Amino acid sequence: MKLTILGGGGFRVPLVYGALLGDHAEGRVSRVTLYDTDADRLTAVARVLADQAAGIDDAPPVRVTGDLDEALRGADFVFSAIRVGGLEGRAADERVALDEGVLGQETVGAGGIAYGLRTVPVATDIARRIARLAPDAWVINFTNPAGLVTEAMSRHLGDRVIGICDSPVGLGRRIARVLGADPEKAWIDYVGLNHLGWVRGLRVGGRDELPRLLADPALLGSFEEGRLFGPDWLRSLGAIPNEYLHYYYFNREAVRAYQDAEQTRGAFLRDQQEGFYARMKDPAAPPLATWDRTRAEREATYMSENRDVAGAGEREESDLESGGYEQVALALMRAIARDERTSLILDVRNRGTLAVLDADAVIEVPCLVDANGAHPVAVDPLPYHAVGLVTAVKGVERAVLEAAESGSRASAVRAFALHPLVDSVSVARRLVDGYTKVHPGLAYLDRP
Ligand code: G6P
Ligand code: MN
Repeated sequence: MKLTILGGGGFRVPLVYGALLGDHAEGRVSRVTLYDTDADRLTAVARVLADQAAGIDDAPPVRVTGDLDEALRGADFVFSAIRVGGLEGRAADERVALDEGVLGQETVGAGGIAYGLRTVPVATDIARRIARLAPDAWVINFTNPAGLVTEAMSRHLGDRVIGICDSPVGLGRRIARVLGADPEKAWIDYVGLNHLGWVRGLRVGGRDELPRLLADPALLGSFEEGRLFGPDWLRSLGAIPNEYLHYYYFNREAVRAYQDAEQTRGAFLRDQQEGFYARMKDPAAPPLATWDRTRAEREATYMSENRDVAGAGEREESDLESGGYEQVALALMRAIARDERTSLILDVRNRGTLAVLDADAVIEVPCLVDANGAHPVAVDPLPYHAVGLVTAVKGVERAVLEAAESGSRASAVRAFALHPLVDSVSVARRLVDGYTKVHPGLAYLDRP
């Protein structure tokens, strides 16, 4: 089984490789190809992987390449985890938005639209190449904004591209834990778009345990999302939202906190990661230990401004460990490659699951996975409030896809202007001007 990782010089690649090292079963990944546009980053990450593999006899061999087509040929699975424009681009996405008083987060609001506009053309080119060079490969998309990018790729790859995110898994696991349930046995009723979904129920032995959680303020205050949103708001909603909904429900406070912060998340990560990749050039630096220290710092500071706004305090020890991101990817690969049937929350085409969206709209939903791919499970409809947000954001995503396809600035303006977190068409126009000024990758928006 051959795995190719696009964005192979990326910081989270060792998480994936670590998961592969723990898999010794028949049909496991036997070779890993790392592709990246940056040779230094590839070398750095390859050093960490070599350190991870030390002393493990059956560690999958790793090869690196800067040739995309070569990386794709012969692949059974392709992980796509690219970052168009790098972390410098992410920091610029945030800055331009915050200067206009709107959110610049990489997946939500104006920042997510800018990042999407930059990423979709590149992801589309990759999807076309995969369709030509590795038509039987399964593609697992990690690239953010994950729902939008998966939908762009699905236009060329159909249901062979599956998007993943670790936040619904983490949320389900935390809720199960506070309810004293086994996360492996619980059924999580979760649906929406990527970074825009809600847990509406958690069934154990056929019984919905979520009402017990919603009725107990002490239990609600004992986990991340409970503290982030506050027990009162969760009881009013009657559901537990994905943590990214904090940017919607507490938008004003979140924007202010990010404006006041010393550095945006993107700028912090840019500096942090620059330091890591520079240190990896020193042959005396211990690769795995250096990487792990950097990873721990990244985890500890995740969404820290949102937690400050909510007075939610530090993250819990169990949330600082990795386990979501790479485990979902591995579970998905195993289910497909070995027909190990399982259920996972994934980003796939709707195919009638949510009646308010068309069949091709990529949604985030529990799926049954087997050798034939991921099959979305029937879910109850969303309440009107959630339908409003989901359909509005899907409309925005469609405008982004249109802009990326046609190069139309008007479509780009429409994407920003229609977003529920952008409050004026004039702001949207200025955002398009501001983003095209700072991002060479948006030069294609040259048609009226
Ligand atoms: C969560 C999100 C991912 C995101 C990751 C890292 O797991 O679901 O989409 O990439 O956090 O966020 P960061 O701010 O550290 O880049
Ligand atoms: Mn995510």
